[in-house]
Parts: sequence; structure tokens; C-alpha cells
Amino acid sequence: MSVNFDEIIQRAGTNCTKFDKRFAVFGDSHVTPLWVADMDFAAPHEVTAALISRAKHPIYGYTFAPDSLYEALISWVKQRYHWSIKQEWIVLCPGVVPSFTAAILALSEVNESTIILPPVYFPFFSAVTKSNRQLTLCPLSYHNQRYEIDFDRLAALEDNSRILLFCSPHNPVGRVWSRSDLEQLIKIAQEKNWIIISDEIHADLTYPEYQHTPLARLAEEFENIITALAPSKTFNIPGLNLSALIVPNAKFRQAILNFFDQLHINPANPFSITAFETAYQKGANWLDELISYLSCTRDQVADYLTKYLPAIQLVKPEGTYLLWLDCRSMRMTDSELKRFFIHQAGVGLSPGILFGDEGSGFMRMNIGTPRSNVLAALEKIKKAYV
Ligand SMILES: Cc1ncc(COP(=O)(O)O)c(C=O)c1O
Repeated sequence: MSVNFDEIIQRAGTNCTKFDKRFAVFGDSHVTPLWVADMDFAAPHEVTAALISRAKHPIYGYTFAPDSLYEALISWVKQRYHWSIKQEWIVLCPGVVPSFTAAILALSEVNESTIILPPVYFPFFSAVTKSNRQLTLCPLSYHNQRYEIDFDRLAALEDNSRILLFCSPHNPVGRVWSRSDLEQLIKIAQEKNWIIISDEIHADLTYPEYQHTPLARLAEEFENIITALAPSKTFNIPGLNLSALIVPNAKFRQAILNFFDQLHINPANPFSITAFETAYQKGANWLDELISYLSCTRDQVADYLTKYLPAIQLVKPEGTYLLWLDCRSMRMTDSELKRFFIHQAGVGLSPGILFGDEGSGFMRMNIGTPRSNVLAALEKIKKAYV
């Protein structure tokens, strides 16, 4: 059965952050919301059916994750990425941000530093600073509308770094790192004895011309890599809050487990485990259709900007449904850009400056919505700008 990603589903009024927090975030409850990273598409119908079936059993008591849930994840990464992981390596967590924050707290000391590569998903900054750990920035380099890791700068870091918090694929710049990028990164981390936390939440959302490689698959003997995975972005179920850390190193795993134990966190609830397992077991066809829908939208946005809004340049995404727009030719300050998009264009985007100083002059646009919404938003921007 083919999925209708063009269907407009009313989300306003469901306590949905993207729509119902518009006034709080933009000061205007009517902007076209293309900001927070979830999608306006129905989750795979198999997931909805499984949730309904579970809801029909009227007792929602304490719950644990069954072996079949672990097997669903193991088989997903084996089939999609030829990566063999063991059940004992998997630590379930409520969300990816809490999971990497827990890893930073459990595996580094207050005087040790975590390195991040901005512009990057903004909780990467706060996960470190709010954990009272040191933060080291190693910005990506940007030339000809393409971002690269600055390996020379990374290798030259001489400080108290302990952890590298890596985003792969990278939000917001949309890079799907090549095998050679990943190999260089591993080499430096091995020399420095760093731990890498590789946030691969966007792994499954890679465009057909690119191939995501799990970092840890390239260095099975180097047990310092922890991978964060989740079905949340992939299948549009982020409100259900269940993710997984893959931690092959037994000492690290125990430290993270102790941390969750101390907080008495049980990430499994009757609905989160149902959706997680079903999505990985039955969502593959839905995902393939989603990717082809999103790549078509991405291409249409690229064409539109070239033809009608050349002052906005698209950094061509290799993965994720988040487009990184280089708006520097519009010659506005960051506050002017924000005001322009909200009040003149009526479109709610994420300001690039949120992702670090390197994001100044950029905006992030979420295209995980029916294409008609994206095209209507572009029209609004064009009308306001010209
Ligand atoms: C790179 C990255 N990591 C983590 C998250 C959020 O994960 P969670 O909601 O599971 O904490 C996002 C959401 O946008 C993201 O882009």
C-alpha cells in the first residue's frame, strides 16, 4: 500500500510542540511551522495499529522491553548497515539527548572537556555546559556550500578533552560523513584516547545518493565508541520517547547503567516499546517511500531557490529532513533575519545562530511536511522578499 505523504493532517490542538507552541516561540500563532524536528506525516500504519491494539488492553502498568524489541533493533542495523551488535551492548534510554548527557556525566570528570563540531544541534552545547563539564569547540569548515570536519584543528587540540560528541548524519548541515571522514576521525580519537559518542539519530534519513556508515562498525576493536540510535526521527514517533545507546565497552556500559539506576529511570512504557519494536520490524517500506518523497521535496526547494530566491542558498543535504539555508546574501543581522521570516514572511524557521556562532546568517527549514506546505512557505518568503 502506498503512503499518501501529501495528506494534510491537522495537528494544532493536540498539544503538539510544533503547532501549539508557535505563539510562545515566535510571538505569532499563525506562522507556517517549519521548525522543531518532527514531521507532519502519519507514522507507519502498522505502528498505529499496534498501538491501538495495545491500548485496547486497559491496564497500563510497569513494563519492560522484551527480547523481541532488542532483536528488532539488532536485525534493523544488520540489514540496513551490515553492522552486527549484541543485545548485551544495548542500553535503552528515554531520549537521545538524555542518553548522551548521561554518558557525558558518567564517563567524564568536571575538569574534562567534551568536543563538539559546530554549527551543531544546540543541545550538544547545553548537554555539556549543564553537566558542569568543559566545552571545546572545533568548528566545521565551510567552503563552496559544503561543510567538512577540520581534521588538522581536531588533531592539534591539546587540552583536557575526554569525549567527542559527534553528529552523524549532521544536524543542521546535512552531511552524511564519508567512510574516509569517519576513518580519519577514528584515527585521531585512538591516538588521543578519546571516547566518541556518535549521535546517529538521523542515520535512516539518508538520501538515495548517499550511504550512512555507523562509525562503530569501522572500528570494532576500538571499544571507545558509543552510538545513539532511535526510531523516533525515522518513523516520526519522537513523542514516544524511547532510544538506545549501543555500548560495546562493558565498563562504560556499567557506568551509564549505574547512572540511570541512580535516577530510577525505566525507559519502557507500554506504548514506547510497542511503537519501537513494530517500527523496526515493519516500517522499512514506509521509510523507503518517505525518503523518495523527501528527496523530491528537497530537489524542488533547490530549484525554487535558484529560480526565485537566489539570495538564499541551499546547502545541499545528504541526509535529514532539515535544510540549512545560507541567507547571508540577504544582508540582514540575525535579529533582522528572525524578524523577516516571522513577521514579513509568516514562516517559522529555526535561526541558524541557535546552532552556534558559525550559524550566523543561516536558517534551518524542516521539510518533513506535505510538499504543498513547503512550496506555500517558499511563496510567502518570495513575496515578502522581492
Ligand atoms: C542530532 C539530534 N540528536 C537528538 C535529537 C533529539 O533526540 P531526543 O528527542 O530523543 O532526545 C535530535 C532532534 O532533533 C537531533 O537532531
